[in-house]
Amino acid sequence: MKFRTRAIHVGSEPDETGAVIPPIYLATTFIQPGAGEWGTFDYSRSGSPTRARVEKVLADLEGAAGALAFSSGMAATHCAMMLLEAGSHVIASNDIYGGTYRLLHKICSRNQIEVSLVPAHDAESIADAIRPNTKMVWIESIGNPLITIPDIPAIASITRPAGILLGVDSTFVPPAILRPIELGADIVMHSATKLLGGHSDCLAGVLAARDRQLHDRLYYTQNATGAVLGGLESFLLHRGIKTLSLRVREQSSTALRIAQWLEQHPRVRRVLYPGLASHPQHARARNYMGDQFGTIISFELTGDIAETKRVCSATKLFGLAVSLGAVESLIEQPATMSHASYDSAARAAAGISDSLIRLSVGLEDADDLIADLDQAIGS
Ligand SMILES: Cc1ncc(COP(=O)(O)O)c(C=O)c1O
Repeated sequence: MKFRTRAIHVGSEPDETGAVIPPIYLATTFIQPGAGEWGTFDYSRSGSPTRARVEKVLADLEGAAGALAFSSGMAATHCAMMLLEAGSHVIASNDIYGGTYRLLHKICSRNQIEVSLVPAHDAESIADAIRPNTKMVWIESIGNPLITIPDIPAIASITRPAGILLGVDSTFVPPAILRPIELGADIVMHSATKLLGGHSDCLAGVLAARDRQLHDRLYYTQNATGAVLGGLESFLLHRGIKTLSLRVREQSSTALRIAQWLEQHPRVRRVLYPGLASHPQHARARNYMGDQFGTIISFELTGDIAETKRVCSATKLFGLAVSLGAVESLIEQPATMSHASYDSAARAAAGISDSLIRLSVGLEDADDLIADLDQAIGS
């Protein structure tokens, strides 16, 4: 079956009542067949019927051996990092979400995890950073917020023979467009709070694993540490996934129109969007994503920082807020919002300037969104 059909039917098989939409199970504990005997479910941290359904469709859509649903994207990333022994070395992209930067530098570092940040769109920079204790490479399939595109197969051809795990945070590029496991990733992570949920009403995270053994190691850690997705959120996430491919196709097409419009604007210095021919990795993006380049655009104005802040506050449809990927369009200034947890030297090294603006393009009418940006940027 094709992606759209599976997104609607896998994990949504009717139960014995025939209900077309499966019920939400809120039970935290389950009657056991006997003392010391275990049924399918026993305690909801270890597994629950509603979470199992959404994990089933997620694994299917990612082409993974199994998927795990977490209480947030950061909980999912943390679980992946907990695979690492103390003293391991992680190579991460220097274009990653601020929360991941903070997790690596302020939390994983407590376990003597060493971190190297590299420009991951250049696979050679990863090869050059490998040390004897390198155990994980962590990249984003579209970097946040500089919209860099790594060459996942080229990176996998470096990590696989070296026995290094390749984790791909694919929050910006959902499986309707790209499935990193098919390109060689070992672990795919999503902040499902974003495009997968799609409606800004469900905080969630996902890990999908290439093979069963890796899945079981991640499951062991998830169960031992407990940051699982609750029943209501599992239901909301599952519902969001059913419309994922339609939302992403429409939002990507609007994003391309907006990016093209911004690129022509005299008060815009540069636009970062993989669908533009001017994007340094445009050919790679076309290769991996076809004609859907995602819903996120970053751009810089010609004016000063005050002008950047003014525009961020002047839009009427684009809400000034962090997060992304939902039906409502959002605008933000990464330096002071989503990436405030970078230290300023690392921000400067990565090229995240104070004048950078990030847009999350929603499902509103493209003409209305362009008119909103037009009035906000001015002439
Ligand atoms: C690329 C990326 N990864 C991870 C996260 C963290 O996810 P969550 O906020 O669901 O914990 C975010 C959140 O903005 C993100 O944009």
